[in-house]
Amino acid sequence: MAWLEGSALAEYLRGLGIWTYGLLNLAHILGVATLFGAVLVLDLRLLGVWRSIPATSLLRPTVPLAAGGFVVAAISGVMMLSFNTTEYHGNPFIYAKFPLIGLGLVNVLVISRLPAWRRVTAGDTPAPADPAILRVCGAASLLTWLAVVTCGRMIGYW
Ligand code: HEM
Repeated sequence: MAWLEGSALAEYLRGLGIWTYGLLNLAHILGVATLFGAVLVLDLRLLGVWRSIPATSLLRPTVPLAAGGFVVAAISGVMMLSFNTTEYHGNPFIYAKFPLIGLGLVNVLVISRLPAWRRVTAGDTPAPADPAILRVCGAASLLTWLAVVTCGRMIGYW
């Protein structure tokens, strides 16, 4: 934490002026909103909502939006963290948030390797167990990202 707070990046950002943190926070929340909004639509579809819409039609906009939102949130998040990193020492919400982000990313890797996911993205005929498998994936993803957002919002209240 002390290393990040004393890094050249942190020194540079702190020297930019009083609006810098606020603008980074704005970028962070826009990234979070984009990621969570896209994930919400995709996961609800995996959970069985909007069955009449082909999953492939929803995947095209939601997957790149979620990925782009994550990149914006991660970059702005590290920059915000560098401002006063040591202030977060002992904050359980920030300690929980990073492993949860890791879990969310592992979940993405696992889902993308599942035959059930490959079939749904290719628009192939699903195997009998596919809907149940995809429902579990959707629920795990939704709960994980909801936990990340909750931890992020609670950091400042500790
Ligand atoms: C490497 C990635 C990330 C880092 C380093 C990071 C870091 C931070 C920091 C330092 C704050 C400010 C906490 C405060 O003092 O109040 C924050 C706020 C927040 N973060 Fe992140 N974050 C990251 C990714 C994410 C992701 C992926 C999400 C959600 C999916 C997220 C959700 C939030 C939320 C909801 C807030 C509260 C924003 C507000 O109330 O203005 N963060 N984050």
